Amino acid sequence: MTDPSHPLDLAADPFEVARTAAADIARLTGIAHHDIAVTLGSGWGQAADLIGETVATIPATEVTGFSKPALDGHVGTLRSVATPDGRHVLVIGARTHYYEGHGVRRVVHSVRTAAATGATTMVLTNGAGGLKRGWTPGQPVLISDQLNLTADTPLEGATFIDMTDLYAARLRAIAREVDPSLDEGVYTQLRGPQYETPAEVRMVGAIGGDIVGMSTALEAIAARQAGMEVLGFSLITNLAAGISPTPLSHEEVIESGRAAESRISQLLADVIGRL
Ligand code: HPA
Repeated sequence: MTDPSHPLDLAADPFEVARTAAADIARLTGIAHHDIAVTLGSGWGQAADLIGETVATIPATEVTGFSKPALDGHVGTLRSVATPDGRHVLVIGARTHYYEGHGVRRVVHSVRTAAATGATTMVLTNGAGGLKRGWTPGQPVLISDQLNLTADTPLEGATFIDMTDLYAARLRAIAREVDPSLDEGVYTQLRGPQYETPAEVRMVGAIGGDIVGMSTALEAIAARQAGMEVLGFSLITNLAAGISPTPLSHEEVIESGRAAESRISQLLADVIGRL
């Protein structure tokens, strides 16, 4: 589903569009350079208020290449937040999901834009299903590695990028200093938007996945390509299909995000304060 009037579908070079978007952000926020970027997925929204002082909030639709959010529970804004120690955090509350069908360039545009604003650390958060024994809905976990089962990639052409330390061990160690009880797991991105069948969840478990979701893996690849260090958090909003005794519902996912929101948002803000 390409849109011939969209700048990313028109452009020969998506990084050029990201540089234009970064210039829009600098103009609209008055902040020329950001140090860290964080994408807030379902359940993580309150972190924006806890990281520091909001300098500016802008509708994502005013920034080149950004699309309207497809879903309730996903805030369509970009915020510039100043931490108490004077760093600038770009808070991205406008995620374009792969299942929206607009192509991977739009999915990773926010990450490329974050890199173009100067950010060298990308924090990716999401709400996701959990496979690991002992995990319970409402629990935040670190992402240790990923399986990209979308059969797609943000890389175009012969672009060979090392993925060995994709979710930086250095940053995970910092997160564990803040909360030593944080467990970690392998994030698995499927295309969605249907939730998995129990058979698909068994497959994910058999090939080494611990978390199932519909975002993040493609974004992490783009962040790595842009040279950023990546930190990933999943909020386990539900046990994955077949592990959960009840059918999955979007309402349940949003509700358990809400219930955990203030606790995990504080955790995220504390971690960002240490990065
Ligand atoms: N599967 C995929 N995506 C999700 C889930 C899930 O169980 N929960 C929240 N997002």
